[in-house]
Amino acid sequence: MAREIRILIAEEDLFFVKTIEDSLKESGGQYLIEKVSSGQACYEKLQEKQFDILLLDYALPDGRGLDWLRKLNQSGIGVPTIFVTPRGDPKFSIEVLKEGVFDYINRSAECAKAFPFVVNRAVEGYNMMVEKVKLQKELIETKNFLESIVDRAGDAISVVDLEGKILYWNEGAEKIYGYRKEEVLGKRLSDFLFPVDETLREEEEKLLSELMARVTQGETITNVEVKRKTKEGREIVTSMTISPLKDAEGKVIAASRICKDITQWKKAEERLAFTERLTSLGEISAGVAHELRNPLAGIKLNTQVLLRRKDLPVMERKLLESTLEGIGKIQKIVDDMLHFAKPKAAHFKEEEINEVVENSLAIFQTKLKKENITLLFDRGEGLPKVWIDIHQIQQVLANLILNAIQAMEKGGSLIVRTFLEKGGGVGISIQDTGIGIPKSHLYKIFDPFFTTKSEGTGLGLSITMKILENHEATIDVESEEGKGSIFTIHLPGPQKAEGR
Ligand SMILES: Nc1ncnc2c1ncn2[C@@H]1O[C@H](COP(=O)(O)OP(=O)(O)OP(=O)(O)O)[C@@H](O)[C@H]1O
Ligand SMILES: [Mg+2]
Repeated sequence: MAREIRILIAEEDLFFVKTIEDSLKESGGQYLIEKVSSGQACYEKLQEKQFDILLLDYALPDGRGLDWLRKLNQSGIGVPTIFVTPRGDPKFSIEVLKEGVFDYINRSAECAKAFPFVVNRAVEGYNMMVEKVKLQKELIETKNFLESIVDRAGDAISVVDLEGKILYWNEGAEKIYGYRKEEVLGKRLSDFLFPVDETLREEEEKLLSELMARVTQGETITNVEVKRKTKEGREIVTSMTISPLKDAEGKVIAASRICKDITQWKKAEERLAFTERLTSLGEISAGVAHELRNPLAGIKLNTQVLLRRKDLPVMERKLLESTLEGIGKIQKIVDDMLHFAKPKAAHFKEEEINEVVENSLAIFQTKLKKENITLLFDRGEGLPKVWIDIHQIQQVLANLILNAIQAMEKGGSLIVRTFLEKGGGVGISIQDTGIGIPKSHLYKIFDPFFTTKSEGTGLGLSITMKILENHEATIDVESEEGKGSIFTIHLPGPQKAEGR
């Protein structure tokens, strides 16, 4: 048997109430009716008891029905409400619907007759509505739960439709690529996420569209390595997994991409390979340099002995002098090679970096003037002391300053800065307005013997790198062809230095 429907009637017009009661009785349904004639009484009743339906008049002696309804809603009394509205006022009816009433009736005899029907519709509809709201709530909770996992994941997760347009972009993607969700939704990845090497753009797009074609067939592709440029222009390496997203019928409608930022890994890997290469190269060059040193010393001595002769014809003297000059150059290379292979034992001490830099710059004063280069030293203040071998760091600075001078044959500016780094370390940057370094050379300049100079040995930067490694320091370079280069050294802070 159907349960009784509990109805509370808040209505002052007793005649209307009577008509309602009669029609409920006639309908043969089971109703439990209670009546109140003021808003306050209605409010109190609802707090003390539960009802299935409230029939609420628009005008009660102690206020507008609408205001009482708002008060009920605010105090969390959720009861399906049927409103009694004045006859023929559709605007008012819409207003009460907006306030969340379930239905409304006119204060008329016909409406009173139809009331049982309205009540049943409200009861059934309300239950359905409650159920729907509950399901919706569960759905939203599950969605939020999954979204927060996906959103907060450290990896970049994005969803693209079959045309490549972005439908979803998580926080990880914002962090890794630097583009905000609002900037990219609806755009194609290839419109803004460029490969590191522009010349590879077409090739890479072709590869990615081939991958997408396979994903559209239902395939999942794992761990493809892709190099990308972030919004700030930083280069990153990601390992990407693309999988198909299917609709309820199993048709592929989009693809999800999960990209892990493996830049640091890659760097560590490259560094390791580089160090290994350096070590073996160092061993070979040390061997060669050692073998060359003694015969070279002999040649030098012989030449010097010959040059001491007073009776030398001018021509022969000139030849011998140029031979001696050549020997001097070879000797420098041999020394560099030996140093590269086996740097002298380091003597670490606490030093004031600004002083070290100033001393290094002083050595080059005359050369800078001669080459028409203006010098700017932007001296960082309040820097902690650094734990370094002053001679080695001076050699590093000399190598970098010399490279900068050599890059500015037509003059320019040399800007040297010292600054405090975020992690407490000290940074030194050496910037020039010279010829710059082509992209294709950037990866090679630290290789031993890589040089583009007719007189260069190509050991300056590899020795620099080796010394910095010894200091647990790093160096990076930014350069633009025709504009200039900036080399930045990152020396560890005092805490790290103390630990050694
Ligand atoms: N500031 C710079 N501007 C432009 N190119 C540079 C700069 N610094 C280095 N390079 C490039 O890197 C190469 C390697 O530099 P590195 O100092 O190792 O050798 P080098 O200067 O050629 O010879 P060495 O220093 O042994 O005399 C240079 O030949 C040059 O092509
Ligand atoms: Mg050099």
